[in-house]
Amino acid sequence: MEKNKSIVVLDVGTHKTVVAVGEIKEGELYITGVGEALTRGLEKGLVVRSFDAIQSIKEAVDKAESIIGYKIDGVIANASGYHIVCANEREEETFTEGAKAIQDEDIDGLLNKLADSIETNGYEILHIIPKKYKLDGYNEVEEPVGLTASKLEGEFHLILVRENDYKNLKRVIGEAGVRPIDFVVNPVASAEAVLYEDEKDLGVAVIDIGAGTTDIAVFIDRGLDYTASIPIAGNQITMDIAHRFKISKEEAETIKVDYGTALLEYADNSIIEVLPIGVDEPIQINNVELVETIEARLTEIFELVKAKLDKKGYTNKIKGGIVLTGGVANTPDIKTLAEAVFKTDVRIGKPKDFKGYNDKLYKPEYSTTVGIMLYHRANLIDNSVGLFSIFADRDIDILSFVKKLIEKLKGSF
Ligand SMILES: Nc1ncnc2c1ncn2[C@@H]1O[C@H](COP(=O)(O)OP(=O)(O)OP(=O)(O)O)[C@@H](O)[C@H]1O
Ligand SMILES: [Mg+2]
Repeated sequence: MEKNKSIVVLDVGTHKTVVAVGEIKEGELYITGVGEALTRGLEKGLVVRSFDAIQSIKEAVDKAESIIGYKIDGVIANASGYHIVCANEREEETFTEGAKAIQDEDIDGLLNKLADSIETNGYEILHIIPKKYKLDGYNEVEEPVGLTASKLEGEFHLILVRENDYKNLKRVIGEAGVRPIDFVVNPVASAEAVLYEDEKDLGVAVIDIGAGTTDIAVFIDRGLDYTASIPIAGNQITMDIAHRFKISKEEAETIKVDYGTALLEYADNSIIEVLPIGVDEPIQINNVELVETIEARLTEIFELVKAKLDKKGYTNKIKGGIVLTGGVANTPDIKTLAEAVFKTDVRIGKPKDFKGYNDKLYKPEYSTTVGIMLYHRANLIDNSVGLFSIFADRDIDILSFVKKLIEKLKGSF
């Protein structure tokens, strides 16, 4: 295999850390190796114990390397954590030389102009994602390169991450012995893996419920319009169960996955034996009590997401419904519960558009992992386009917040 044509992604989740290696064969993405480790040292998507996090990443990298048979150098990683903020911004450029055929450099110029207008304040821009362009004030286009105009305008979705969280993440990845080349935020990656273009046309919300965070991405009119992350997810459900029955986190996780469902209405009265902490004899709990606990927390998560969608006016705009993904989307009956709360169609999203390791990766919990790779697929097909985002080679310090943006964000979050 040609190493330089392969892409390595690292998905550091709160529950699991995954390294996946892929390559393009006849235009399709093939996954050629996967290494996975249980994550230690992360909470709510953030590094809380560096040493443990480094060990988890090393373990996943080692496993992937033993499969692919060569050393991994650079990785494209996920940027997780709930302190992400987003904004929709526009930028324009009038060409002094008059009408001209727009080139890639003009687009870069527009992106850089927007990035440069941004002042740092503890955040860094991770993505500037184009939504649409306008030529000469009236002609709306998706792909302006090659078209002639004397004025270029663009609308962009910006995603910013907290500088310190981002530094910690970069440091632990580096100390695990791999070089972080670029990052994709969780909601962008998950959406890339599970959505169909038709859903983006109609308007759709992707909700990725992992262990530490619930990540949201909303597409309106094809373009990414909103991204957010909430620090309540599967781990919280596990902790609720542990607290209610006074059992260990591990035992709570096991009974949640083995017997849990999302709807009390469908729960049977079966008996589950558990061993409370410090007690020698197992006790019996009713399955109804377990499901009650799960349903309550899941409902709260959905209501928090719904409140955000309502506040931003998306509820009536997402005609394509809601796509649920992330490990928690495996909970039986979760689709029915979500439909009751959101009052719209819901489907469970699994990562698509890849080959290889299907048995392993065709599951909701791998949407972010596969999505990071799909997000960078264009770079694999055309090596002349660097592997990097527009920011990878910029001085990171200049990439932070615009004061005016903060003012704007204060009002909207
Ligand atoms: N069958 C199941 N029923 C209920 N919950 C499940 C099931 N399978 C997985 N989960 C839950 O999904 C969560 C893990 O999801 P995932 O692997 O997407 O998280 P992660 O990517 O490691 O974390 P994050 O992205 O939040 O940092 C855990 O809380 C786990 O209990
Ligand atoms: Mg995840």
